Amino acid sequence: MDNGKLIYVDNNATTKVDPKVFEAMKPFLTEYYGNPSSIYSFGGIVSKYIDKARKQVADFLGALPEEVVFTSCGTESDSTAIYSALSICSNKNKIVTSKVEHPAVLNLCNYLSERGYNIVEIPVDKNGCIDVQRIDEAIDNNTALVSVMWANNEIGNIYPVNEIAKAAHAKGAMFHTDGVQAAGKIPIDLSKTEIDMLSMSGHKIHAPKGVGALYIRKGLRFNPFLIGGHQENGRRAGTENNAGIVALGRACELAEQNMDYELTEVKKMRDYLESEITEKIPKIKINGDCSNRVPNTTNVSFEGIEGESILLILDKMANIAASSGSACTTGSLKPSHVLTAIGLKDIMLHSTLRISLSRFNTMEEIDKVVETLVYAVKKLRDISPFWKG
Ligand SMILES: Cc1ncc(COP(=O)(O)O)c(C=O)c1O
Repeated sequence: MDNGKLIYVDNNATTKVDPKVFEAMKPFLTEYYGNPSSIYSFGGIVSKYIDKARKQVADFLGALPEEVVFTSCGTESDSTAIYSALSICSNKNKIVTSKVEHPAVLNLCNYLSERGYNIVEIPVDKNGCIDVQRIDEAIDNNTALVSVMWANNEIGNIYPVNEIAKAAHAKGAMFHTDGVQAAGKIPIDLSKTEIDMLSMSGHKIHAPKGVGALYIRKGLRFNPFLIGGHQENGRRAGTENNAGIVALGRACELAEQNMDYELTEVKKMRDYLESEITEKIPKIKINGDCSNRVPNTTNVSFEGIEGESILLILDKMANIAASSGSACTTGSLKPSHVLTAIGLKDIMLHSTLRISLSRFNTMEEIDKVVETLVYAVKKLRDISPFWKG
């Protein structure tokens, strides 16, 4: 096997900047570097492009331009939504969330719990599914916010966020969803939902790192997280990231144009990958809700061997970049909180790989991933003391 061109199949961690996105943002790094708040026309030009990007993001989300606030990343959007709800509903101190949220939500909730907030994390079943009734039962008069992600970054499950939003509203709570992994992978039309706030991130949809957005439903009471200048209509202080914002707008436009491709061709590649490895490698388990997942993600456990060792072979032998869990938990030896939440057996907990595709992958690459995986798993099982065959 050769160690050729990079095969990047870790698109839930981050994505390649689409060359069309790069083309759109380039002039805002070199030519149009003005401060959009300046009153001379050199600043005004930039502000017009920021307005255009806001409309592109809004159209992509089925929202109004004034409902979109630009941020620096998904994490900032999540923090902003959570802090805003708590400060608006200062007479309430409860947040209802799930056990499978990204650390951007869960670690903030842990931090808040240490400071006296009542955080309720709703468990999931063995397929990672959430029972809306359990969420409903947890919401009470003291609940400021319900925050449940739209799609899970590790197993790809899609959650019934509109149903949950309705349950939250019925009891007077706000509803936020972390849409970072849903955006660009499944259609989103917020005008048809009761969602109050939605977070998204540029670098997951082929825009660069350092830009994100928060949707805030028109009329929703809101308090800013970053306080300072009057940028973003007083909702997010800090000089705008001109190039990043223009890139996010263009990336949203392209994501919309590529949605059918994502739902058919990217899904075809993911399904082909799963059927090939299921046929060629014994004792594997596909994790998550196979009937309701984003089209690009597969999370697979290979009994008897360590995910990290498989990753190493994929990397060293074939220059394949995948993940053994979410990017944020990689590097620590703690098992993934999502895989723990679905009750994966110990023998499978450390033997898991996440492969996440994008529109830039090809069938040839998938064949190479399958071939290398078959080789790696056999090789590792041959020397594993945990593999009973
Ligand atoms: C579901 C989810 N939420 C939030 C984030 C954080 O986004 P960012 O890296 O833009 O801060 C990520 C990143 O992996 C994610 O997958």
